[in-house]
Amino acid sequence: MLDIRIEKTKNPKAKPDFVNNPPEFGTVTTDHMFVMDYNPEQGWHDPRIVPYGPFEVEPICMSFHYAQEIYEGMKAFKSKDGNPLLFRPDMNAKRFQRSARRVMIPEIPVEDYLQAVYEFVKVEKDWIPTEPATSLYMRPVCFATQSSVGVEVSSEYKFFIVACPVKAYHTEFSSEDSCWVETEYSRASGGGTGGDKCGCNYANTLLPQTLAEEKGYVEVVFTDSVEHKWIGEISASNIMFVIDGKVVTPELDGTILPGITRDSILHLCREWGIPCEERKISVDELKETLKNGKCTEAMSLGTAVVIEPIGSFGFADEGRLTVGDGEVGPVSRRLYETILAIQHGEEKGPEGWVVELK
Ligand code: COI
Repeated sequence: MLDIRIEKTKNPKAKPDFVNNPPEFGTVTTDHMFVMDYNPEQGWHDPRIVPYGPFEVEPICMSFHYAQEIYEGMKAFKSKDGNPLLFRPDMNAKRFQRSARRVMIPEIPVEDYLQAVYEFVKVEKDWIPTEPATSLYMRPVCFATQSSVGVEVSSEYKFFIVACPVKAYHTEFSSEDSCWVETEYSRASGGGTGGDKCGCNYANTLLPQTLAEEKGYVEVVFTDSVEHKWIGEISASNIMFVIDGKVVTPELDGTILPGITRDSILHLCREWGIPCEERKISVDELKETLKNGKCTEAMSLGTAVVIEPIGSFGFADEGRLTVGDGEVGPVSRRLYETILAIQHGEEKGPEGWVVELK
């Protein structure tokens, strides 16, 4: 059990106006942050919730040089009684531990991670927005702080949690999203960190993402790094299709992030009797089923995006192919509405999915 010291801000900030002037995703932070430090002598120590502000680190801080850093994305919502609601936070805590192991960061016990998140959310409760499709998006992060340019495992770390009141990551729930199928650059390779939530996974998506935007696409879906034949993951989210009436998503082969939204969708679909397949999907199968009309829906999914229907895919050899009739499909709509209703406490989800902080 952490003994968390709380120091409240003396200068609370103005909260954003989501009706008249909603801020860009992730640009406004709340008043406080949770911070805890690690060194070999004390282990994880000095847990505290303090006013939000900069850290002082040296230019030779190891994270700047070798990207020994991991993070999580979580959201808090408000129940109709005004209590904070969290969606499957234990899954984030466990994934944070797995990511830590992969890049040699000392693990934070699941119960300490959860306690830190819960205490932090309680302090920032008034920052949880209640307008439609809004939430308090949280970023638990851990990074190496040792000062040295030697390539080695850092001996010192900082764990922090910050939060941003946000509107949906993409503007509207519509099929305007489009996805370029990338067959030159890769996001992850077998045995790498693609299946863990390491910041380094995202840097190498920025160039292909920019090139795809120049071609007129909103997102990029990466293919495997060996043959560029198998569909993998979108830059910052998982991908799912409805093919021949079945929900199909790439299997977790180590290059795909085990998304909590992905897991929740598979669970709900199985409960509803919709057949689900976690398997390899080739670029050729995607092209074929888009052309013959068997791929009726496609979605981008993640904590930030929730579920975003994809209206078309772009291929280097075929150009743009539309998904189904180009409109939002019934499975995507039902999943989106159900996930949001569960997260906001309006519908009862499976046991243990929603944690209400009283
Ligand atoms: C999330 O969905 O929470 C993520 O971490 C993706 C992010 C890059 C927006």
